Amino acid sequence: MERIQVHDKTFVPLLTADQISLRVAALAKQIGEDYKEKRPLLLAVLNGSFMFAADLFRLLAIDAEISFIKIASYQGMRSSGKVVTAIGMEQDLSGRDVLLIEDIVDTGKTLHHFIPTLLQQHPASVRVATFLHKPDATVYPVSLSYVGFEIPDRFVVGYGLDYDGLGRNHHQVYQLATGDADES
Ligand code: IMP
Repeated sequence: MERIQVHDKTFVPLLTADQISLRVAALAKQIGEDYKEKRPLLLAVLNGSFMFAADLFRLLAIDAEISFIKIASYQGMRSSGKVVTAIGMEQDLSGRDVLLIEDIVDTGKTLHHFIPTLLQQHPASVRVATFLHKPDATVYPVSLSYVGFEIPDRFVVGYGLDYDGLGRNHHQVYQLATGDADES
């Protein structure tokens, strides 16, 4: 694999397409066993997770549903805390086994703020499956049940992940080249 250019930055190969498809298949097998008889509802967090979600979902050998949401956060008018809402969440989650599908858990902030919102709907269970995790960057506590790959704390693109809109369509994952400043 070659290095690639996305906007003004150079990226070097981190994960091959083969490594990714083997790992996604293993995750699908594990999830299929864990959710046998349960008919889980996968909630894929757009935009970054669409490729992982599609590959994972088509390999699931159990009855399962999938829906796509966007998470928007804004500062509340009077409260000091962040308010996190989901766009596109039409399902009734009460009693459902919800599996959130993420592209990457970086600081953990998004999920840390969003999961309490989900729990207000009284699902039977909520778990997280993330394609990538940067353990060294994670400062908000989040419990991750399924992790594709743990990676170093450097910005990555490919397999759905973007740098300023570009880079999502690569089959591989690339990380920012050493020497290129990581401004993420
Ligand atoms: P967190 O809230 O800090 O965990 O960040 C989660 C979101 O930030 C992810 O769902 C991504 O959309 C984005 N993100 C974090 N790190 C990267 C990266 O290395 N490449 C592309 N997007 C990233």
